[in-house]
Amino acid sequence: MTLTKTVTKEETYQLRTYAKMGFEPVRGEGPCLWDAAGKRYLDFYGGHAVASTGHCHPEVVAAIREQAGRLLFYSNAVPHAVRGEAAEALVAFGYPGLTQVFLTNSGAEANEAAMKMARKFTGREEILFTEGSFHGRSLAALSVCGIPKYRSFRPEAPGTRQIPFGDLGALKAAVTEKTAAVLLEPVQSVAGMRTADAAYFRTARELTAKQGACLIFDEVQTALGRTGKRMVGMHWGVEPDLATSAKGVASGLPIGVTWIHERIAKTIALGDHGSTFGGGPVVCAAAAATLRILSREKVWESAARLETRIRSGIARLGAPYAGVRGLGLLLGIEVGGGAADLARRLLEAGLVVGEGPGVLRLMPPLLLKEEHVDEMLAILAKTR
Ligand SMILES: Cc1ncc(COP(=O)(O)O)c(C=O)c1O
Repeated sequence: MTLTKTVTKEETYQLRTYAKMGFEPVRGEGPCLWDAAGKRYLDFYGGHAVASTGHCHPEVVAAIREQAGRLLFYSNAVPHAVRGEAAEALVAFGYPGLTQVFLTNSGAEANEAAMKMARKFTGREEILFTEGSFHGRSLAALSVCGIPKYRSFRPEAPGTRQIPFGDLGALKAAVTEKTAAVLLEPVQSVAGMRTADAAYFRTARELTAKQGACLIFDEVQTALGRTGKRMVGMHWGVEPDLATSAKGVASGLPIGVTWIHERIAKTIALGDHGSTFGGGPVVCAAAAATLRILSREKVWESAARLETRIRSGIARLGAPYAGVRGLGLLLGIEVGGGAADLARRLLEAGLVVGEGPGVLRLMPPLLLKEEHVDEMLAILAKTR
């Protein structure tokens, strides 16, 4: 008997740049997914931190349906009340001094916008970024990527310089009167959920302020309550000049957000930046509904509570689960080598997780409950 593997249309026609997980979800509800055979999966990957309100939250789905049925799209050449609603909610959720937002379609674009604005504001070129950081796949975003395997597209954008992450001495030496911005990914997710201590972020704030440079936080994964605070800098009392997000802001529709400090916003003129699809009505309806839900449920409080439950649960499990890195519901469970194989076996057991260097990566929906954490821990316990 010969075994033939079915080649799907996707494999035939979509350029192959993605390694696939070994399942095909066809339906989702809350933190759960089902495949065509009816097998249920508990989703601690959240479509890569995107399913913030869980899969198909009825309030988000209703908002999308309602807006799509009324006006699917018109560009930024006209106002939309729903765009105003989403922008207001984003400003309210974010840092107090960051009083305006610019809307795009992805995290990479949100970071591009932040870098452009920092350069315009300071009139300087140099953007410092850190080893291990990931900021997206556009050429400029790759030029500030601290993970070598992604940087194979030369030449990179000029004016960018890498410094070590979490190293106070290196930071002090690097930030000068030539610096336009220090761009930080405060919890380095792709690099395996590495973070730095409060002193590092506070020093970054002090040095950039002293030198007239901008501090940019890439909060594509850390914003909107995921780390146990509304925004990640709130852990350390640090407010950046620009912050970016994407992923779960519209529960699964494509969006990028750049939050901008008032004094930077004042330097941006008509026509300085733009996007056809950014801030479209359907996406904004989804974002407004998402923010309403995340605020109402105070997800930052449950993220902090569930982090404690996960940390103590993992401590009880023993090998290969050696410890936990990260913040809130953006966590890496340290498993040493073999993370990819373990993630595959967990998937077979009905648990979806991501994987990175030496870790299983957790970025589940934010409306998670204690019972889901306990179910996750039980699956880990029997899969080693
Ligand atoms: C921290 C961070 N920044 C930026 C990006 C890029 O976002 P996007 O893929 O939406 O362009 C990602 C994506 O994984 C990310 O994790």
